[in-house]
Order: sequence, then structure tokens, then C-alpha cells
Amino acid sequence: MSTKFYITTPIYYVNDVPHIGHAYTTIAADVMARYHRLKGDPVFFLTGTDEHGQKVEKAARERGRTPKEHADLLSVNFRKLWEKLEITHDAFIRTTDMEHIAVVQELLQALFDKGEIERRTYEGWYCTPDERFWTEKEIVEGKCPDCGRPVEQIKEDNYFFLMSKYQERLIGHIQRHPDFIRPESRRNEVLGFLTTQKLGDLCISRPKARLAWGIELPFDRDFVTYVWFDALVNYYSATRYLSPAAGGSQDPGARERFWWPADHHLVGKDILTTHSVYWSTMLMALDRPLPRNIFAHGWWTRDGRKMSKSLGNVIDPNEVVDTYGADAFRYFVLREVPFGLDGDFSTETFITRFNTELANDLGNLLSRVMTMVGKYFDGKIPPAGAEEQSDRELREVAEGLPALIEADLAHLTFNKYLQDAWQLVTRANRYVEENAPWTLAKKNDMARLATVMYNLAEALRLIALHLAPVVPGTARKIWTAVGMDGFDQVRLAEERQWGRIAAGAAIKPGAQLFPRIETRKDTGRGSERMNAPDKSIRGQADKSNKGEKRMETGAAAPKIEQTTTAPELIGIEEFAKVQLRVGKIVAAERVEKSDKLVKLKVDIGTETRQVVAGIGKAYAPEQLLDKQIVIVANLKPAKLMGVESQGMLLAASSGDILSVVTPDKEIAPGSKVK
Ligand code: MSP
Repeated sequence: MSTKFYITTPIYYVNDVPHIGHAYTTIAADVMARYHRLKGDPVFFLTGTDEHGQKVEKAARERGRTPKEHADLLSVNFRKLWEKLEITHDAFIRTTDMEHIAVVQELLQALFDKGEIERRTYEGWYCTPDERFWTEKEIVEGKCPDCGRPVEQIKEDNYFFLMSKYQERLIGHIQRHPDFIRPESRRNEVLGFLTTQKLGDLCISRPKARLAWGIELPFDRDFVTYVWFDALVNYYSATRYLSPAAGGSQDPGARERFWWPADHHLVGKDILTTHSVYWSTMLMALDRPLPRNIFAHGWWTRDGRKMSKSLGNVIDPNEVVDTYGADAFRYFVLREVPFGLDGDFSTETFITRFNTELANDLGNLLSRVMTMVGKYFDGKIPPAGAEEQSDRELREVAEGLPALIEADLAHLTFNKYLQDAWQLVTRANRYVEENAPWTLAKKNDMARLATVMYNLAEALRLIALHLAPVVPGTARKIWTAVGMDGFDQVRLAEERQWGRIAAGAAIKPGAQLFPRIETRKDTGRGSERMNAPDKSIRGQADKSNKGEKRMETGAAAPKIEQTTTAPELIGIEEFAKVQLRVGKIVAAERVEKSDKLVKLKVDIGTETRQVVAGIGKAYAPEQLLDKQIVIVANLKPAKLMGVESQGMLLAASSGDILSVVTPDKEIAPGSKVK
């Protein structure tokens, strides 16, 4: 049964150009939207720009433009980037749209008429750049607790939304709806704050004398609306004038009833309070249903450091996409970091994933199959014969995927989704090894070779189907390459069945999917470590052909030092004394009174060990859960801050960066590392 699916991103301020943070949320929302379209659900995917308020007014003034001129210019940067990233939003809202302004005023008037908004004199602290009021208790040594800039003492009349009276109702709602705020840790934070502190009322106006660039209050023309009140309403106003028709009806009321409430508001962790508290209480006062879920994702750093213009280390998604292609970027950001946790972008990890997962695992699989079908079967997919055990296993992995992916995406665990989908890529590669098609060809066993080729083509077709939401361009290429057409009309329910490729279909091999990125080291031109953190990720790619040509970049694999004075060497027998085993972290918590030590429970196949590791500054405990690691399994137990450690985990460090060593692929806990 198909159910409507409405997903939103934050609307982005037009005081700046788009960066990886903006791209991240929008890619995540796009994956969800594409997946639901694949399922045949009616989808409304909304993004847009937040164009009122002090920040925009200031940015415009600094550039000698009117705020509207500035917004017009900068809003385009977002649209262009979304096009480049193959984002398939159904609508792009701008808070300067006349229709949006009308809805904001209608809601303000309704709240005012209901007595939910009151005029009061406010006296207190105000942070002008952040446009926020603070109480005496909240400010820190005369500075804004959020941005650290000086606050001003102001006294003025303003309008207040009586938010405080909804505190208990909001707590109840969050408690009764476990999925309302996700991830769990963020939900607990919001609940913790709501159950321990008294909620104030929300100042929703700014006197025009101080700020002119905003939506006028319908009941007092001397004031404009506080930018967050205006911005949050976008999710709702869009259902009236930008949403797809509801059951064929363009009527705004029918569309609102069909699409509202939203299924997911995806936001960054810094704007969770505005969404979970302001927006929810506003909706309660308006007697409108609350969104089903607000999901707060983490923040990206660059090579372990906060990104900032002054450090010059902000990642421009345009550059990454121009160099490596949209799909590689989309894949990387979702695969690298569990959605909800903070993540780090480094050129080295990007290139490693690109080369091992995209170029090797996936790209080579397709090109091998294309070459063999071309060579042995004249470019036509041959028919499959009797099913043998490895054929069945391959099919079963493919057939198990839809249920896994459905569950993964219901929880927005994108990295798990990609790991699950990769099981089929990995299984297909193993299938090639097991069946050694080149040997079958040599032995002239064409019947078995035909079966192997058919099954590989079919596995590739299903890889394309299941990866389509994340890497749409690549999925289309694979789909076409294995002789299928109609990619844009594909529906999951029909196409998830095994065996949809008709024998005899002509393959259409194309260029390499992901040409390996050659590092200086690969090309033998010196092994110096390149790419200082603040350098651009851009290599020397041929930009005339986005990612289609071989690329060369400065980022090298870690340098292998050739020392002139031989270090003390050990024999293999000495090394063999150290038992290294793969373990899986099944529980993690901080050691009391230590910011460095974490207590882990590690499953090493035969038993679960307690390991205490000094990685607490680099990893939050929840980031470690389910991680596969390598431990020294035969180390004498030792006590660290009174807690017993039965082993040691391997981690690498360089400067401030600390990275836990993990196996490249999922492997059974207890496996030997040698
Ligand atoms: N205009 C408001 C949102 C209003 S929604 C009704 C706003 N805009 S913003 O442009 O400043 O930020 C938009 C999003 O970018 C936020 O979700 C924020 O979390 C995200 N990010 C900003 N920097 C980020 C990173 N370094 N990493 C990940 N996301 C980050 O806030």
C-alpha cells in the first residue's frame, strides 16, 4: 500500500554560499525521497532558502545590495548546487514568496485572535548577530552563550508567543512518541532540558526601527516577525501552494490536508531546539498535528578541525563534485558517518573509499562482467541453467536486501543501508572468484559460464536498483549496461524479483564507472604526503569530463618511511606471539571521572572482553557501538583508573587526530589478524 511521504530540509540562510553541511542534509532527504518514489509512494520533498532577518540584511548591506537583490542572487547558488548533486526536490520555497508571507500573517493573526500572542515590555540581554534574547543567568561574562559575542542591554515592547504553557503537553508528546525526535541521544537531551528547566515565552517580533527586513505583523505594522517564526512556518505554508496536487486536486486546503503533517524534518543538531520546541508548540497552539519525526544529524569537520572561513578549510561541494562526480560525494557522506553523529571529511578517507569501494568493488565488477559477456557471448546476456549452491547463495543475498533496506531507511541509518547493499556487491565479487569464469571459458564449459554470467548481470541489476537512491547516475549506467531500459519508470515491487533480465538482452558497456584516483605514490613520483588540511580537495582532474577520465591528485597513501639506520627488527616468530583478533564493540560507556577512557565490551567470537581504551576524546561512546576493531587478545589484564582491561585495541594517531583501526569489510568477530 502506498502512503504519502513528505520530507523537508532546513531552509538555508542566503547570507552565505552552500557548503558540505547544507549538501549533507539535502542529499539525505533526496535519498529518502527517491526511495519512496521507487516504492510508488506520493512524495513531496521540500527545500529552499531562508531570506529574512538580521543576518541577511547585514550581508546585503555589506555588499551594497537590497536584501531582496541579495536573496535573489544567493538563492540561485543553492538551486545550482542541488542540480549538480542531482537533488530531486519537488519544490524550492523562498520565505520572500508572497504566498508564504500570506500564510505567516494568517497564522500570526489566528494566534493573536486566540490570545496566544501578547504584547509586553522586554528588558534584558540581546545578541544582535544571533537575533536572540538571553536571560541574565544564561549570558557568560557579558557574552552570548552561543556565539561568544558581546550582548546588549535593551528595553523595548515586543510580542510574545505564550510558549511556556505548552511545556507539559510537549513533554507528554515526546514521551508518547519515541520516534518524534531522533536519534535517541538527542531526544534525551531535549527531554532532559524540558523536564528540568522552565520554558519561557517566545519573543516573535522585532521593532521595525531596529530591523526592517521581515514579514510585517498583521496586527501591528511597527513590527516585523522574528525570523525563526517565519522560517519554521515554511514547512506548513508550502503544503498550501507548492505541494503536488492531492488526488488530482489543486485546492490549497485539500493539498494541506493531504500532505500535512510532514513525515521527516531533517535538521542539523544546532537547530533541534527551534524545531522540537518552538515549532512543536506553535503547531499545538494552532491546533495542527505535529510532524511525525524531527531528525537531528551531526556536524562535519575537516581533517579533525572545525570548518570556518577564517581557517579557509570549508569544503565546497561544487569542487568535490566537479572533480569526482556527484555520486562519489553522495555515497561518501552517507557511508562515512552514521547519520546523527559528527563526522570528519578528509581527502585521504574520501580517496580510499572511492578507490576501494566504488572503483574496485563496484566499478571492476561491472567491467569484468561486461568484458566477459562481450567476449564469450557476443554482447548478449546468456540464459541461466540449473542453479548451483553459489548461485542460490548469491540470489538469496539479493532477495534479502529489500527488507533490510526498508528497515534501514525507516530509521534513517544510511550508512547501514549502504553496508547492507554492499553485501551483494561483496557476494558477487566472491561469486566471480568461486566460479572462476575465465577457467570455465578455458575448459569450454559454456553452459556453466552462461549461468554464471546471467547471475552476475542479474546481481548487478539489483545492485543498481537498490543503490539508485544514493548513486542515481551510476545506477542508471549499470541498469543500461546489463541490457535493461526504462530506468526512470522502475518500481521496487516488480523489479526486486530475481531474474528480470531477459536472456538475449544486449549489453551496453560504457566508460569505467569510477576510474581509480591515482595518487602520487601510485604513479611512483615521490611519496611525500600531500594535501595539507587547508588545501582544496581538487586534484588535477580533467574537468571537461567530470570524473570520467583518470584523475591524479596530490593525496597520497600514508608515507612509508625508508630509514637509513635500520630500526631494531623482529622476526616473524616474535610477531606471532602477539595475538591480534577482530572484535565487535557491543557496549561502550565512559569511565567515570575520565574524559579520555572508555569502557568497551568487545565480542571476540568465543567470548566478550572488557577493554578500556583511551579514545574518549576522539569518539563518543555511541559512535563506537557496532564498530569492528582489532584487539591484542593475549595481553595481560591491567587496571586503568580502577577498571580492568582485558586487552588493548589498535588505533593510529597523528597530531590531534586519533583513528581506531577497523577491518575494511565486515568479518566474523574473533577472526585472526596477521
Ligand atoms: N535558516 C536556518 C534554518 C531554518 S529551518 C526552518 C539555518 N540555516 S543555515 O544555513 O545556517 O544552516 C542550515 C543547516 O546547515 C543546519 O541544519 C546546520 O546544522 C547545517 N550545518 C551548518 N554547518 C554544518 C556542518 N559543518 N556540518 C553539518 N551541518 C552543518 O540554520
